[in-house]
Amino acid sequence: MQLSCGQEIARDSTFALGMIAEFDERLETCGPWFYKRLFWEAGLIGQVLYLEAEAAGIRSTGIGCFFDDPVHRMLGCYPQTKWQSLYHFTVGGPIDDDRLTTLPPYGPHVT
Ligand SMILES: Cc1cc2nc3c(=O)[nH]c(=O)nc-3n(C[C@H](O)[C@H](O)[C@H](O)COP(=O)(O)O)c2cc1C
Repeated sequence: MQLSCGQEIARDSTFALGMIAEFDERLETCGPWFYKRLFWEAGLIGQVLYLEAEAAGIRSTGIGCFFDDPVHRMLGCYPQTKWQSLYHFTVGGPIDDDRLTTLPPYGPHVT
């Protein structure tokens, strides 16, 4: 929860995780464009987590708000950038938020 900007969903879940990428070496070998690619791959893993959690009857949420330097300190890789935390996720049982409204994807205005 502390590493995830104080968000309770990171503390109260079944588990939460951080996706750590080999950073410097990838960018040196593949070029700067690989920066975007690393995030793309993290997002792909996140998408699988969304689907697998749903299939298992629970839920998950991507966590884009986290404190990267404290994460790196905890892992012992700060201040180097050999490894970088790119994206986090939390998985657990859902608690519906009554303040949110879900509408059908295709309303009467769609012909
Ligand atoms: C890259 C990314 C980062 C996210 N970070 C957070 C987060 O830090 N905390 C959180 O509660 N939800 C986070 N989410 C989940 C979004 O809040 C969630 O997708 C949104 O609530 C879905 O609402 P919608 O169906 O209206 O798009 C993140 C989602 C993505 C794709």
